[in-house]
Amino acid sequence: MIPLKWGKRRETYLTEREQWLKELMDSGQTWQGRRKFLQMAALAAGAAAVKEFVPHSFQLVEVVQAAEPAAAAERPFTFAYISDSHLYEKTLNERFVRQLIRAVNDINALDPQPDFVLYGGDLAQLGQPGELNLGAEILKEIKAPVKMMVGEHDWFLDMGDLWKAKFGPPYYSFDHKGIHFVTLMSVNEKDFWTSKGLTPMQRMQIVSGLDDGRQSAFEVGEEEREWLARDLAKVPKTTPLVVFSHSPLYKLYRNWNFWTDDAEEIQALLRPFKTVTVIHGHTHQVLTNRIGNIHFHGMLSTAWPWPYAPQGLPKLTVQMNRPDPFNQTEGMGDGTITVNPSGHVDKEYLMWNRNPLKVSEKYLDSNGNLDRPAKTTLPGY
Ligand SMILES: [Fe+2]
Ligand SMILES: [Fe+2]
Repeated sequence: MIPLKWGKRRETYLTEREQWLKELMDSGQTWQGRRKFLQMAALAAGAAAVKEFVPHSFQLVEVVQAAEPAAAAERPFTFAYISDSHLYEKTLNERFVRQLIRAVNDINALDPQPDFVLYGGDLAQLGQPGELNLGAEILKEIKAPVKMMVGEHDWFLDMGDLWKAKFGPPYYSFDHKGIHFVTLMSVNEKDFWTSKGLTPMQRMQIVSGLDDGRQSAFEVGEEEREWLARDLAKVPKTTPLVVFSHSPLYKLYRNWNFWTDDAEEIQALLRPFKTVTVIHGHTHQVLTNRIGNIHFHGMLSTAWPWPYAPQGLPKLTVQMNRPDPFNQTEGMGDGTITVNPSGHVDKEYLMWNRNPLKVSEKYLDSNGNLDRPAKTTLPGY
């Protein structure tokens, strides 16, 4: 039962949040409204003190093309992730906006704060200015630095022009506490539109249909692979790598583009390194794989959960229960990733309607024999 005092605070918080959301959706937001929202979010998170909020605009990703070997190891540390929000134009869908705000609240309430937040791609549904602008407005409320990754839903209307203008280069690397991080643009497609005379929106809609057979397979592509080879050539093989990609960097299920066509070539570039972790979006589900020295983890979506593919599911995956179709936020959430002293990670899925689920380094290292994640305790549908 909610104590009376908290009940009152919660009621005020919800009223304030509702007002902030309304202002956001009306394009009439004010800094005063946003400040109140953040103050109430901090109150809800049980923060002891509410800090003064300083308005700021979305910062482009700070890109440091790593020229020097990574610094000495300072581990463990944690970063957080949010992914696959699929925002529509404001007039069409408010629910996905609320869900992204919920993830932002979750991350802002973490104590201690993560070193940074990775946004895993598919911020927009159809790459439209109204969608990407709305997403940027919400993400700028995150207290920790934000690193952006692109998804196919952000890209194929204008081939990334607006996304790049707002968020920076689609692929880059940086060093942090002894880890070499790489963010890839893994959802390039070979041109299937010119010969058919398709409009930009027709192209976008075909790509956004997960099982639309008219599109090409996702790929990193030759130019970016060459950049990756040059980037990794500067990094000692003993330095742990963490690679972010939107699509899984292995071949799971082609019909849904749970797939990267040049995955083997990317894996070959990663294989010489002692410790490699790949964190990917796109699949909207708990997904775990290991290929040799490379550990793979799928991220949750804040918009909806995809079902598991009918073929190709990696054996290490501990499946989420089937989501309840009557529960609007079932099977969704955000999460944290702890980078261990080894450079591999423990990944925690913060599912909004179930117990958190932790997939540890030990579980992957032992090929599933040790530290198997406990099944979520709420019943599946
Ligand atoms: Fe997605
Ligand atoms: Fe995607």
